[in-house]
Amino acid sequence: MTRDSDTDDDTAPTDDPSSDTRQVRADGGAASGADDVALDPWGSATVDDYRKLFAQFGIEEFEEVLPEVPDPHYLMRRGVIFGHRDYRPVAEAMRNDEPFAALSGFMPTGDPHIGHKLVFDEIIWHQERGGDAYGLIADLEAHAARELSWDEIDEHARNYVLSLLALGFDPEAGELYRQSSNREVQDLGFELGAKANFSELQAIYDFDGETDVSHMQSVVTQMADILYPQLEEPKPTVIPVGPDQDPHMRLARDLAARMRYFKVTEAFASFEVDPDERAIIAEAYDALSERHPEETIRCADAARYLENERDPDATDPNATTTDSAIMMLKEAGKEPLRPRTRFLDRNATDEAFDALIEAIDGEKRVYEAHVDAFDLSREDAEELARQVEIDHGGYGFLAPSSIYHRFMTGLTGGKMSSSVPASHISLLDDPSEGYDKVKAATTGGRETAEEQRELGGKADECPVYELYAYLLAGDDDEFATEVYEECVNGERLCGGCKEQAAELMEAFLEDHQEKRAEWEEKLDELDIDFDSDRKRR
Ligand code: TRP
Ligand code: SF4
Repeated sequence: MTRDSDTDDDTAPTDDPSSDTRQVRADGGAASGADDVALDPWGSATVDDYRKLFAQFGIEEFEEVLPEVPDPHYLMRRGVIFGHRDYRPVAEAMRNDEPFAALSGFMPTGDPHIGHKLVFDEIIWHQERGGDAYGLIADLEAHAARELSWDEIDEHARNYVLSLLALGFDPEAGELYRQSSNREVQDLGFELGAKANFSELQAIYDFDGETDVSHMQSVVTQMADILYPQLEEPKPTVIPVGPDQDPHMRLARDLAARMRYFKVTEAFASFEVDPDERAIIAEAYDALSERHPEETIRCADAARYLENERDPDATDPNATTTDSAIMMLKEAGKEPLRPRTRFLDRNATDEAFDALIEAIDGEKRVYEAHVDAFDLSREDAEELARQVEIDHGGYGFLAPSSIYHRFMTGLTGGKMSSSVPASHISLLDDPSEGYDKVKAATTGGRETAEEQRELGGKADECPVYELYAYLLAGDDDEFATEVYEECVNGERLCGGCKEQAAELMEAFLEDHQEKRAEWEEKLDELDIDFDSDRKRR
């Protein structure tokens, strides 16, 4: 079954047992809790209610871009990838065979497990679709934020890389690196650090006077990781991560903008307005220019219109917005009111600023620190600003995009934790151990077989069903749906269901470890050092 037949979704789960619109969705563990959502990159990685992330942090629902993604990955189809920021440009590049990139990073604090596999698969999928792919080992972060020794880090780093390769990452086409040995990343981090200050890190990450400086450096390093794929040339870049990394994404998107030479906005007169004020002024402009198509409209006219003539039912986001728009219009008085595209000088060199002025077609007006263009669309203006920046030695960064996956529920219920071996399956677990862990897992089954046949199992709350949906069913939607349907219809009992899952897990681990062994032989050929020559501590 594909998602076309869905009528329900994550945000409105239906418990109606008679509903025959069941779907392959991974809602396990998504039951809403009373806790507020906290997104903390170094805290415990659980989210009680994924819905809150949309409203609270402005993460968008992945479902909305799904139709724009060519041949979406099963994690996308099943709602495991539930959210995104600005993924559209990446999907568009994929559709049009244009350059794009995918990058994610891993803190080498333990063994890679089946939760990390989600991210490995996401990177690899984008690589297979033609993207520049990057996998990085966040060793500086592990040392600074988690205080791991370099010996431990080296060993774990090696294991992450082996699993990424075994799952299909192509190191010839893509790039694997350690933060500590990537000089370009360090340099970029230094530049980006000049655009962020302590107060900001304090607000975003709760840093305080006790936070050590290396920890802060690991933040700017991550910012550099995220923008690294755009170092040669700007391109849409997706960062697949868990939602706990979203604070990093928001900062990276801000920093990307702060590095730009120009900021492009739209305006109606010499003063700056925010988007809400602009909408109100546009309303006045449209009404007046319709009435007097030949005449110059002045700011004072628009102020008068808004005060006296505006349709009282007109949508008004809030009264203060209208008031501030009127005030600015009055102040500008006789100045003509005309829509224009504005280039604000943020970091441009004098040469770049002059070149921009030169490059603008049509009517323009030049000010101290901005240029207004009257015959240029916003889109063309963005394009032009980026081109001039690149031609004059700037980065021209595009805001990086992200996609967010759900955290897997632990096999023992609760959260999946690297420090609780029974809660997760490590990619290094002996296949028979993987088998045993699945057999011992908590389920969404009923007290008795009889009850299960009558009421059906609770697949949406079952870690074993999650294993099928996130991993064991692979690309086979029909199989995942079958497990789901049979479970909720009472045709499937937990004993047999777990046996089947356990066997699949065992086979997966066997295969994965074989491939790891093959890569171990070839690891020396790769340009990555697992024996860091740092002083031991
Ligand atoms: N902070 C990430 C983690 O805790 C690791 C990381 C470092 C990362 N640099 C990155 C993730 C860049 C995505 C992109 O796992
Ligand atoms: Fe979970 Fe399978 Fe039992 Fe359903 S039958 S509750 S999916 S273990």
